[in-house]
Amino acid sequence: MGRSEELRLDPWGATVIHDYEKAMKTFGIKPFYELLDKIENPHSLMKRGVIFGHRDYDTRVLEALKKKEKVALVTGFMPSGKVHFGHKILMDQIIYYQRLGLELFIPIADAEAYAVRKLSRKEVVEYAVTEYVANLIALGLENKKVHIYFQTNYETPYYRLIQMFSRKVTLAELEAIYGRLEPGKIMAALTQAADILHPQLEAFGEYKNIIVPVGIDQDPHIRLVRDLADRFGSELGLERPASTYHRFMTGLDGNKMSSSRPEYAIFLSDPPEIASKKLANAITGGRATAKEQRELGGIPEKCSVYEFYLYHLIKEDASLKAIYDKCRNGEILCGECKAYARELLVKWLRDHQRKLEQAIDKAYKYVDVPEF
Ligand code: TRP
Ligand code: SF4
Repeated sequence: MGRSEELRLDPWGATVIHDYEKAMKTFGIKPFYELLDKIENPHSLMKRGVIFGHRDYDTRVLEALKKKEKVALVTGFMPSGKVHFGHKILMDQIIYYQRLGLELFIPIADAEAYAVRKLSRKEVVEYAVTEYVANLIALGLENKKVHIYFQTNYETPYYRLIQMFSRKVTLAELEAIYGRLEPGKIMAALTQAADILHPQLEAFGEYKNIIVPVGIDQDPHIRLVRDLADRFGSELGLERPASTYHRFMTGLDGNKMSSSRPEYAIFLSDPPEIASKKLANAITGGRATAKEQRELGGIPEKCSVYEFYLYHLIKEDASLKAIYDKCRNGEILCGECKAYARELLVKWLRDHQRKLEQAIDKAYKYVDVPEF
């Protein structure tokens, strides 16, 4: 059995990764923590291990920034529903990189959603603007050095890349990466390759240093793109992009957080009381009885409430550590702990939704909407 058959990531399936270490080994992804010392102002998602892996981050981002070279970010969204806290992990990174001065290219994968998810155009376009773009703005995205575009509604040289890529890749190669493929998925993969590589063209500013932050389910695309860059090195001057990988958020029932299971996901537009109720029902790493929990302590690593603290609700590392320790030592029980998380969540949502309301009007200024 080949390496890729033992563990194949499906960017269009419901990937649940249980063993991040194994995935990293299999695909040659490097641990991110090794770079932390070299990063001037790391994002808390980096310090906390949520961003756990990378390819070429040291050369393409850290060294490039040091040498004052231009660096661009590319990462996209498939607008298949409302934005939840899992998506926020990526949005927070985008804003971090904008503040570092990177040029941002943010594709909206409407072509992919149409072909692979079979969603209607109208639905996808509306979600893209009123949910994805609006939430990005509400989280702090500014309208400078940012290109948000629909995959079906962009500029000619981008489409030329898709055509050219199709020549230098074989079906066997694609199927070794993705498994069985149909034309829609092949188109989606080559389109995503153009998303990631097009900023290197002169027409888009010749950004040779590219960073692509993604969830690990997208790594098959990254591997394909790196091969394509090698093959078009002399013809188009393309270079390999760097990537980082973040952990997925767990759903409130312990499975994947997904828009298709709304009762186990918290959406950024959920009415605060409803979000609070969802969190109240979330599974925790607590013990069967209070007595046991006082004796043995809870398991924050297995707790979806703790995950909310870690990923989203607590900024200061010292406060987070205090909760971690109290949980481990059995000094706090889940009821009390959850009540605090719910309080923070409600506060956060109220504040965010105030901004979101204004952001929806602004969103149409950030992106051109396709006419059908
Ligand atoms: N396929 C990605 C998803 O399903 C969206 C996407 C499109 C993307 N183009 C991209 C991600 C380029 C990273 C880079 O979420
Ligand atoms: Fe989770 Fe808090 Fe319970 Fe610990 S005490 S398991 S962090 S809810």
